[in-house]
Amino acid sequence: MKRRQFLTTSAAALAMTQAGFGFGGRSARAASPSSQARLKMPPLLDTRQTGRLALSARAGSLSLSGGPANATAGFSQDYLGPTIIMQNGPLAADVENTLEEAISVHWHGLLVPGDHDGGPHVPISPGQRWTPDMNIAQQPGTAWYHSHIHGRTAQQVYSGLAGVIQVTDGRDAERGLPVDYGVDDLTLVLQDRRVDGDGRMVYDPSMMDVMHGFMGNRMLVNGQVGAVAAVPAGLVRLRLLNGSNARSYDLSFDDGRLMHLVATDSGFLPAPVALTVLSLSPGERVEILVDFASGGAPVLMSGIEQPFGVLDFAVDDTMPARITVLPDGFGSALEDLSGTEMRTRELSLDMGMGGMMMGGGGGFAINQRAFAMDRIDLEVALGSVERWIIRSTMIPHPFHVHGVQFRVVRENGAPPRPQNNGWKDTVLVPGETEIIMRFDQPASRDKPFMFHCHILEHEDAGMMGQFTVS
Ligand code: C2O
Ligand code: CU
Ligand code: CU
Repeated sequence: MKRRQFLTTSAAALAMTQAGFGFGGRSARAASPSSQARLKMPPLLDTRQTGRLALSARAGSLSLSGGPANATAGFSQDYLGPTIIMQNGPLAADVENTLEEAISVHWHGLLVPGDHDGGPHVPISPGQRWTPDMNIAQQPGTAWYHSHIHGRTAQQVYSGLAGVIQVTDGRDAERGLPVDYGVDDLTLVLQDRRVDGDGRMVYDPSMMDVMHGFMGNRMLVNGQVGAVAAVPAGLVRLRLLNGSNARSYDLSFDDGRLMHLVATDSGFLPAPVALTVLSLSPGERVEILVDFASGGAPVLMSGIEQPFGVLDFAVDDTMPARITVLPDGFGSALEDLSGTEMRTRELSLDMGMGGMMMGGGGGFAINQRAFAMDRIDLEVALGSVERWIIRSTMIPHPFHVHGVQFRVVRENGAPPRPQNNGWKDTVLVPGETEIIMRFDQPASRDKPFMFHCHILEHEDAGMMGQFTVS
């Protein structure tokens, strides 16, 4: 059967990227700010009244800054999917696949059993639907969803099969947090995409691209290049998802203004933490509050050596500045699992240059074993707490575990950086990172959970394993 060709490929694009990335200077701002498109939010899909959620994976097209139309894919739209708002309780999902290849919908960050998790063992064939009856029971936080077919995840996510989830308990206004979607509460999906000389988006990873992960030369926020986010002159909540295949961002504002971190992947911190630089690796989410009361047109930047603009902001005095005081806390302290009796496992995230050069699959593996659909790597006891010591080889790898929320207890022998000192499900492992988690969701041999590097080219190449919880 003919596989749908999502994207054109081009050798010219590759040559250009290898010559250096073309993000340009300090600002993503177009020559004349008045011609800059306004940043759009993904549409909202609020499931709180109905307890239902319908998505349709479909083909679409996307043109980047006036260039040619690219063949893309999205959930119920051309590229990416709606922001799904959900609360605790029953949630009946219905996902249809109108594409010509199998996809899956993994709820990255939702605590659901293996058979609802949407990993590689739960494919939705072309023309079929998947209808898990889920139950949501977790702390509020920003999660996301994306396709997760083994060997095809990188290409499918790159094409657009991803979206954001907000788990809410309806109490954010009481917490003193901005809640006006698209006004003072912005959802920002950060993705880099590679664009060739003709303005076409390409996905054509070379051997080196697989080694480093596929990087782009254009910055997209919510599928737009060079847009400007209009914000009120008050505190604005930014929910950031790094939805890139491989690029990590070191975020900061060009004028050095503070980012008040209020939530990590899996929920709120006890109190805001003020940072000037925040790193975000693939798969990670953060919520930050930024004070725009001083006005102006600050730029969110990334990169320390070669900084580039991620998103321009423009303060609009006509917008309502509802929140002007930084909340001092969100209640409860973080649960400490470190006193619990636990089993320790060690995992090395392997990649071998030799294997790559010999064309032997690249040696992408965990503990020397490349991912295999029919092999269970670990068996974990339901309700138990475990300590995993994860080691990266060659480059830092973002490590993700399905079906859990974890705490980072050590990073390279030291206590975790402040931005990792909260509940998480994905963490960049610079060298050696120690995490602790409790396994409360069951997963069977047929529908196991995954653990993997979230550089999608590494994951597809075998840097992934699977485990049962019973
Ligand atoms: Cu975000 Cu196993 O994935
Ligand atoms: Cu996940
Ligand atoms: Cu990796």
